[in-house]
Amino acid sequence: MTSTPSNNPAAPVITIDGPSGAGKGTVAQSLADQLGFHLLDSGAVYRAAAIIALKASADISSETSVLAALDTFQATFHPQGTDGVRVKIGDEDVTGELRTQQTAEIASQIAVMQAVRAALLDEQRSFRQSPGLVADGRDMGTVVFPDAQLKVFLTASVQERAERRAKQLKQKGIETTMRTLVAEIESRDQRDSTREHAPLVAAEGALYIDSSSLSIDQVVDQIVTAAKLVT
Ligand code: DC
Repeated sequence: MTSTPSNNPAAPVITIDGPSGAGKGTVAQSLADQLGFHLLDSGAVYRAAAIIALKASADISSETSVLAALDTFQATFHPQGTDGVRVKIGDEDVTGELRTQQTAEIASQIAVMQAVRAALLDEQRSFRQSPGLVADGRDMGTVVFPDAQLKVFLTASVQERAERRAKQLKQKGIETTMRTLVAEIESRDQRDSTREHAPLVAAEGALYIDSSSLSIDQVVDQIVTAAKLVT
């Protein structure tokens, strides 16, 4: 699943790791816009891999089967300015499938597989291009870009993240209970942070930000201030 040219290790990188719902995506996008940097939404890379596995009817419980699917199909990523990224598999635009619950669930399941993580490394590193990169994910500062100039760990309480998710779903006309959302978030957090390979943990020296009672702008300002000291 490769597509882009080799990376430029000299380009500065700011990593933003943390659980889903902490506001990483919006913060990373806004930060990349302010700095004029490229953006890597690494969750989209895992989600694209999940869609590939589904399309290839891979056995999701088998690392070999998922890897064979990734070898067969290619995903390409097309940044859309402030609209995030469009993803194609071959000629097929699968952007609409990226954010579904099913895709998220399978992405989380295949993300525990070390060989799958290794297969997605080059793809992620290829986003490191001048003038710089903001990389959003779970292991950006710990594994993918351990030499990043600035590492941020962004989190928020489970309750706050569930409320944000409920709001997003409501906008899409999907009703759900807070109880269900809290349970889903807790179970995904548990799997992401206790998995054997590249678990979700703050990188050493990371700037720790709890966004529970902060606006997106306040979080971005904190990171821009810290970035000025290191880039
Ligand atoms: O951030 P997200 O919800 O789009 O991520 C989807 C899944 O991909 C998530 O369950 C964990 C996995 N993931 C990962 O393991 N490492 C990353 N750097 C990004 C995402």
